[in-house]
Amino acid sequence: MAGVSQLPPAAARLQGKVALITGGARGIGACMARLFCQHGAKVVIVDIRDDLGRAVANEIGPELATYVHCDVTKESDVENAVKTTISNHQKLDIIVNNAVLGGDVKPNILDNDVDDFERVIRVNLTGPFLGTKQAARVMIPQRKGSIIMVGSVASSVGGVATHAYTSSKHGLLGLTKNVAAELGKYGIRVNCVSPYLIANALAKEFFKMDDEGCNGVYSNLEGVRLKEEDVAEAALYLASDESKYISGHNLAVDGGFTTINPIFGVFSRL
Ligand SMILES: NC(=O)c1ccc[n+]([C@@H]2O[C@H](COP(=O)([O-])OP(=O)(O)OC[C@H]3O[C@@H](n4cnc5c(N)ncnc54)[C@H](O)[C@@H]3O)[C@@H](O)[C@H]2O)c1
Repeated sequence: MAGVSQLPPAAARLQGKVALITGGARGIGACMARLFCQHGAKVVIVDIRDDLGRAVANEIGPELATYVHCDVTKESDVENAVKTTISNHQKLDIIVNNAVLGGDVKPNILDNDVDDFERVIRVNLTGPFLGTKQAARVMIPQRKGSIIMVGSVASSVGGVATHAYTSSKHGLLGLTKNVAAELGKYGIRVNCVSPYLIANALAKEFFKMDDEGCNGVYSNLEGVRLKEEDVAEAALYLASDESKYISGHNLAVDGGFTTINPIFGVFSRL
């Protein structure tokens, strides 16, 4: 039977809220859509993978989740997604700018052409700019809202991903801080959640690894592997009123990867 079982109102941390999640047709975005709905939110999933996106919305249940086609690089699509959300639910409390293009991995800069570079920047940085802009258009008059970017460990360290991906994710953190500075006066919070490697389709495609390869990747934390659900839980916190005084923050979900250098020192592990 379709549908998610909703928590009792006291445990539902997004009761009455409306969220738009970009790139929600699969992966972390789909996981967030399920969790947000379990917590009482109405969710609009947007993506370019229409069949997958509709399937996620149907699985959650049409009374809680709907799907809208939207290419995040096209302002008219993003504007339409926000307008559809408003016409269906009369407000927008949360946007998660999650859609991503991994792009081709060519480790030599001389093999990287400008079109490939800009394609990644358009989805991973221009997309969140457009999502944030169109969400702000309706959140400013509401005088509240939570804007969540999905960054990466590549938002704060170099060398993990391609030049295009790393540049896009560093830029996304800059965008987070800048928009948080502007929109604070309207009570709108802007934050970023930044995961480490998860053994899902994107990471396996990008790094050309299987489950075993992903599980062999260095982690500072022993005995635990990062899952999509962990990132969704971090976004749930930033979406909910529990984080009502958190803005301009980068919430790393990386087991300490970006703050610890294990190469040299008294705790050296490599
Ligand atoms: N998977 C990881 O290990 C990992 C690690 C760190 C950060 N992240 C970040 O988490 C977020 C989600 O990643 P994921 O692993 O779920 O990836 P994914 O590839 O499974 O999902 C991304 C979704 O974005 C959609 N998308 C791509 N281009 C789009 C466009 N132009 N318009 C609308 N939708 C578009 C895709 O169709 C897909 O459904 C991304 O921002 C990614 O950078 C992932």
